[in-house]
Amino acid sequence: MLVTQQPVFRKFWHAVMPLTELANGPKPFKLLGEDIVLFMDAEGQPAALRDRCCHRTAKLSKGWCVDAEGKACGQGAIQCGYHGWTYDRSGQVVRIPQYEADRAISPDYKTPAYHCTARYGFAWVALEDPIADIPAIPEFDDPAFRTIFQFYETWNTSPMRALENSFDNSHFSFVHRGTFGVAASPKPSKYNLVENETGFYAETVIEAVNPEKFHAISGVTEPITTRHMRNAYFLPFSRRLDIEYPAPKDDAGNSSRPVKPGKRHIIINCFTPIDDGRMQLCQWLFRNDTEADCAAQLLIAFDEEITREDKEILESTDPDALVDTRRRGVEDSMDSDRPGMLIRKHLMQLLVKHGEVEVHRGMKVIALQQAA
Ligand code: FES
Ligand SMILES: [Fe+2]
Repeated sequence: MLVTQQPVFRKFWHAVMPLTELANGPKPFKLLGEDIVLFMDAEGQPAALRDRCCHRTAKLSKGWCVDAEGKACGQGAIQCGYHGWTYDRSGQVVRIPQYEADRAISPDYKTPAYHCTARYGFAWVALEDPIADIPAIPEFDDPAFRTIFQFYETWNTSPMRALENSFDNSHFSFVHRGTFGVAASPKPSKYNLVENETGFYAETVIEAVNPEKFHAISGVTEPITTRHMRNAYFLPFSRRLDIEYPAPKDDAGNSSRPVKPGKRHIIINCFTPIDDGRMQLCQWLFRNDTEADCAAQLLIAFDEEITREDKEILESTDPDALVDTRRRGVEDSMDSDRPGMLIRKHLMQLLVKHGEVEVHRGMKVIALQQAA
């Protein structure tokens, strides 16, 4: 599937940029192949416009924010760096410095604006009127959890590849054999899968190696522990992974009446589509412990090692992932690919509902052959 060729994805909110990135002025981003610029308006709310000035097409992301008097500042209207035309969050040109102050500006002088809102520390953008809400992250406002912004980086793969990988229990013994994967147990644990309106919920318990350096993370000291995984998929490109480790045993070796709850390690991912070969990994981590129990830097380093292992293998896959499984002979599957197949089913249902078929690279080959 070529994400930029499926218009329905323009109708979803996508996590695009941490708000902290906008503190020092406008920043560019490419969403679904569209060049956009993000900036903070005078109210401190993120705004998104097409990254193209309507005067001579310069990228607005080369400019800066200005206040009502036209003075450079951290948040306000966005001024083009070429001749200084200035835009508000609706994309309207509100100031042309070369004009006399009382001269009217044509209402036609504007650039497209996109839906943009702040949520969970990020700017979210929908290129067209959104048809679904931003997935809920209740832990963000829950004092029992701390928030760690873990990753914000570009990967040379597609959201579909990252999504299916995040539900794939068969790769741990191979991709993660150097970290938590149990190489001697390649048979994956089974998921209990429950479909819902926005995707599905998948629950399982897996074994995980637990060397001493992971003890602060897992909260337990057994050499092999378990992870109770509560995983959920949200259309089109988000997922939630709630890992619960066992409650630690007391001094008598008894965990049935624990003194402390098991550690929760909740990862939220938005795999934001940049273009047909790249995605932005946005990852939040929520923990039910404190910095003194387990330092944020240790948690970032722990997940980074695992994330690097996934990145390395995923960047070797074809980003044009098969979605319409009626196409035979493109990718073969096994039983444990069931969550990935369900993601495909939900994406196909979405496409069909919006009158689309899966667009893939092979279609161009067929079209060229037909034209020849
Ligand atoms: S190109 Fe933007 S003001 Fe001229
Ligand atoms: Fe992985």
